[in-house]
This record gives sequence, C-alpha cells and structure tokens, in this order.
Amino acid sequence: MFRRLAASLLATLALCALAAHAAEWQITQPNVMTIAMGVSIPNDVIYVTGSDNGTGARIMRSFDNAATWEDIKPGNEISLMTLAMHHNPHTNTTTGIAAGIGMYQIFNGMAAAQDNGDTFETIGEPVFVAGYQASGVTPSGTIGVVGMWSPNVREPLTYGIRMTNDNGQTFTDSTWPLEEAPIRYASFPSDDVWYATGGTWPTSTSGRMAGKHHHGGARHHAPRDPTRKSAMLNEFFKFRTVRGNQAIEYLPTSTDPAAHAKDLANYVGVIAKTTDGGRTFNTVFHDVGNFYMNGIDCPSVDHCVAVAEGPAGGHIFVSDNGGASWNQTYTHPEAGLFKVAMVSETHGWAIGGEVNPQTFNGLFPSTEDGGFTWTQAPLVPHVYVNDVACTSMDNCVATAFHRNGQSVILQLA
Ligand SMILES: *[C@@H]1O[C@H](CO)[C@@H](O)[C@H](O)[C@H]1NC(C)=O
Ligand SMILES: *[C@@H]1O[C@H](CO)[C@@H](O)[C@H](O)[C@H]1NC(C)=O
Ligand SMILES: *[C@@H]1O[C@H](CO)[C@@H](O)[C@H](O)[C@H]1NC(C)=O
Repeated sequence: MFRRLAASLLATLALCALAAHAAEWQITQPNVMTIAMGVSIPNDVIYVTGSDNGTGARIMRSFDNAATWEDIKPGNEISLMTLAMHHNPHTNTTTGIAAGIGMYQIFNGMAAAQDNGDTFETIGEPVFVAGYQASGVTPSGTIGVVGMWSPNVREPLTYGIRMTNDNGQTFTDSTWPLEEAPIRYASFPSDDVWYATGGTWPTSTSGRMAGKHHHGGARHHAPRDPTRKSAMLNEFFKFRTVRGNQAIEYLPTSTDPAAHAKDLANYVGVIAKTTDGGRTFNTVFHDVGNFYMNGIDCPSVDHCVAVAEGPAGGHIFVSDNGGASWNQTYTHPEAGLFKVAMVSETHGWAIGGEVNPQTFNGLFPSTEDGGFTWTQAPLVPHVYVNDVACTSMDNCVATAFHRNGQSVILQLA
C-alpha cells in the first residue's frame, strides 16, 4: 500500500517535471498597441507592426528578446497588417516591407525598411485602394506581398502577389486566377515555387474592402464616407477604421455546422501553386462547403503545412509531395487557426484561438514530425493569436488580439 502510494507520488512528480518543461505560451507584453498584426525576427531582432487607435501605423523593435522596445518611424501608413523582414548575412544588412491598408491616393499601403531597419519609408505609387494582409520572403531574400490593390478609381481591383527583389523600389505583379476564392496568404519556398491560399466565407463578400470591381468579377462599390473603412480579416474579426479611430471587432459566429447549413456552399478553400515565379498557378487543393484557407508555410518546395477554419472548427493540412495530395492531420471543433510557422522541415507551430460567443482563447498546436501529428500547448485565456515568428521551437514571438480590445505579445516560457 505504502509502496504503491510512493510509486504514484513519484509518477506525479515525474509528470510535474515533464509539464514544467513543456512549452507554455505567456503574455509578455500586455496592451502593446491597439492592433498588433505582424511579427518578424531577422537576425534575432524582433519587429512588430500594427496600428494604434487614432494615430495610425506603428512599428516596434526589440534588440533584447522583447525586454525593451523602441518605436521606429513607420512612414505615413494608416495601418499595417503584415511584415516580412530579411537579414542578409553576407552584407550584414536588414531589409523588409511592412504592408497594410492603402486608400484614396493618400496612403500607399506599404513601407520599406531603410538604414538596416532604423526607419521605414513609404514606397510605391499612391493607390485608390489596397489591402495587403500577408507577406513572405524567398530563401534568396525576394519579398512577396499578398492582397488586393487598384491604382486608381478607374482600374479594376486586382488580387495577387507583388514581388520585389530591390526592397520595394520595383515590383513584379502576379494575378491570382481563382475569382471564387480570393487570395489570402502565401509561402515562398524558392524563387520560382510558391504556394498561396484562397478562400471565402458567407459574409466575406459584403465585408470585403471597397474597390471598383474585381477584375471581371462581382462589382464592389466605394463606401460613401471615405474615412470609414472596414475589412474582414477572417470570419471572426473585422478591422474597422472610422475617422482615424481603429479597432478590431470580434464577431462571434457559431461553430455549429447546423447553424451554417444554408450557407455552407459559400465556404470555399483553395491552395494554388506556381512553379514559374507567379506567371501561372495550378490549383492543388479545392474544397467547397467546409472552410476557407488561412496561413500556409512550406519549409521546402514539396512540403507545406496549411491551416483553415470554418463551421466545423480549425483544420490543418499537410502535403509532402508538392501539393499532389493533402492530409488533414489536426482538427479542433471549436477553434479557428490563422497561421502556421515551420521552424524546420519537422518542427513548427500553428496559431489561432478557440472561439465562443463571449471570448476566445489562444490555441497553439505544435508538430515535431513535419505536420503529421500535433500536440496542443496550454490555452491562453482571452487572446486570439494572429501572427508568429520563431528562431527556434522555444524562441518564438506571437501577436494576438485581446478581448479587452488591445493587442498583446506572447512568448514561450
Ligand atoms: C552587423 O551589423 C550590426 C548593426 O546593424 C552590428 O551591431 C553587428 O556587429 C554587425 N555584425 C557583424 C558580424 O559585422
Ligand atoms: C479609439 O479612440 C476613440 C476616441 O478617443 C474612442 O472613442 C474609442 O473607444 C477608441 N477605440 C478603441 C478600440 O480603443
Ligand atoms: C495521407 O493520406 C493518404 C490517403 O488517405 C494515405 O494513403 C497516406 O498514408 C497519408 N499519409 C500520411 C503520412 O499519413
């Protein structure tokens, strides 16, 4: 009896020791800005982008693993939603692009890092409207910015990818061919091979940012009040700016598939692949009636991990044969998944949140076998995680929306 108790006590202690070593995400910086939405870690320097209510775009940088931060001049952008930084070890220089919302020939929607990331300057031509929600870097340092744009009120809205290999001085644009599922995120495992996700959900067309029309597709009208703008980031969050005041609005939707029965056909999730640097795309994954795709990360040209969300919850898909087939390797019935960051061919983190009518809880599945099996780290209350960057599995920085209306930074303890 006594021996059995001692044995179980030992087992409990061993479990505690294991638990103490397991990765746990914690908020290390509360209320960092109103809307923190992009994180990148070139050469161990952490950059976080987003925007503050009333004052617009914000970029922060930390040289000491998020212990202290400095503000960097962001250019004149209204709000930033994504960030892709690149450190060139041969020249020891850091370049990069922060992108977000451009509008009405006032805000271009993009800024490029100057002077090794000390400042960011607005780049490109003014646009009538632009919404860049994703970006990435090829192994050689070419940066891709993903979203939609229209140069002036007469031009149709183009969805696609804008690539630059001179830090934003010139761009080569690729047009996304799949009208029924606008482009959302992309990964650039080589200069020529890229994968991009697309998707729609029932309310996404009404919430999509205004432009004149999608090339050849449905017409979108400019809002009557040009200072009022909103964009759906996904089914749960609306980015809203009214006369310079910016907020993220949480729109809880039921994850009960029955509640969505009549709308299910409006969930479309696609992945397309290019092998010629964006000249042509082939659809390699196409699903109707279940979810839309979010982030994708491809640690090599044949191996990708992509996340999706819909009324049946969050999903993770993996291909290890160049997109020829995809295996669903994780689902969570009451969650959304926003991004995935592979640290290597084998190791990586997916991020998102459990959603319910009152709040959301940060969700962090991780993999050690290339995405085929996943382990869930402890939930973080009241955050929905929207971006993550890692230098190793236990050295990551994530940005998240908090239920209090502000954004936070999370790191692993
Ligand atoms: C690289 O540049 C940074 C400043 O941007 C400097 O602190 C660092 O010492 C440089 N490293 C090398 C190897 O020159
Ligand atoms: C933004 O600022 C306005 C004006 O100060 C305020 O009314 C509003 O509540 C703020 N919104 C957020 C999300 O902080
Ligand atoms: C992926 O799915 C296919 C078809 O269901 C299956 O044959 C294959 O074994 C799966 N691969 C892995 C690594 O689970």
